[in-house]
Amino acid sequence: MSNGSLAGVALIGTGAAAPELAVTNDDLAQVMETSDEWIASRTGIRQRRLLAPGESLTTLAVQAGTQALEAAGLAASDLDLIVLATSTADDRFGTASRVQHALGATRAVAFDLTAACSGFIFGLVTAAQFIRTGTYRTVLLIGADGLSHWVDWSDRRTCVLFGDGAGAVVLQANSEDRLLGFELRSDGSGHHHLNMACQAEPQALTPDLSIGRGNVTPITMNGQEVYRFAVKAVPEVVEKSLYRSGLASAELDWLLLHQANQRILDAVAHRLAIPSAKVVSNLERYGNTSAASIPLALDEWVRAGRIQPGHLIAASGFGAGLTWGAVVFRWGI
Ligand code: UT7
Repeated sequence: MSNGSLAGVALIGTGAAAPELAVTNDDLAQVMETSDEWIASRTGIRQRRLLAPGESLTTLAVQAGTQALEAAGLAASDLDLIVLATSTADDRFGTASRVQHALGATRAVAFDLTAACSGFIFGLVTAAQFIRTGTYRTVLLIGADGLSHWVDWSDRRTCVLFGDGAGAVVLQANSEDRLLGFELRSDGSGHHHLNMACQAEPQALTPDLSIGRGNVTPITMNGQEVYRFAVKAVPEVVEKSLYRSGLASAELDWLLLHQANQRILDAVAHRLAIPSAKVVSNLERYGNTSAASIPLALDEWVRAGRIQPGHLIAASGFGAGLTWGAVVFRWGI
């Protein structure tokens, strides 16, 4: 399993999956006080894909992972490690092992990683460390979330934003290191701006003995605070990652941000002086898919041939925690 002299990391294949069910802004306007005009002008979102009853996060993650392995020309048995970035696991004990089993990745160890909408970026850096230390050679990183199960459908300020999906990337040990620089950040003082909190409600076991019974409260968000945080924090980590890579923003081929809101994408690109033609965006069709949004967009751009081997990409995620981070990499071997 050791890499020998291959101490670098390359990203070599992508995959993606989204539920069949497409729900437009007009569909939502039938069931709540909203409009396509409001949602599209404030966010850029026109449609989201939602899990239907019976569909699961595991199914989406397996579909995306299978595609990424095919694109990389590898078999599931080649995998040493599977990292599943998610905040909406099918099983709170972890969902990565189910994905490992369904893929038939019999040699791979698998675990979940939770960092909300930054999960894919945190996962990328985590996976890279295992490769760089020579411990593992081939890693499947999947970002997958099904936030539709956890939004408050009576809260129009949040429920219109989110969608479900999964995206995956295969990382492999490589002679040249294609992951050039990164910066990860956390600030728990802002956790109350966006959360899906676990709470324990009192439950009487006996007349004299009460314990807590857990449940999850639907997502709550202070949109304006999160917006302000994202527009300030994301350019900082992108610039830090570029600095660590010895590169300038003008050298980037693509800016690949967490797909939360087109206005955030535009404001960050403006601050970094990156032209809009270099900004990857598919949130119009998927909404905010949390940990899935970056690999979902990466997969689309790679398959369309827009992202080419050697292209320089700055990717950045941000969200609940608060967490945020950026990675600068070159696509392909
Ligand atoms: O993964 C990271 C996750 N989160 C984010 O990135 C979110 C960042 N924040 C945002 O994207 C924006 O703050 C939102 C899109 C969530 C909201 O946009 P906003 O421009 O900050 O709107 P607002 O919350 O200030 O609301 C403006 C008005 C309010 O009405 P009043 O009080 O001015 O009369 C809201 O009640 O818009 C109303 N409103 C809506 N109207 C129609 C809020 N949601 C809706 C809705 N449809 N869905």
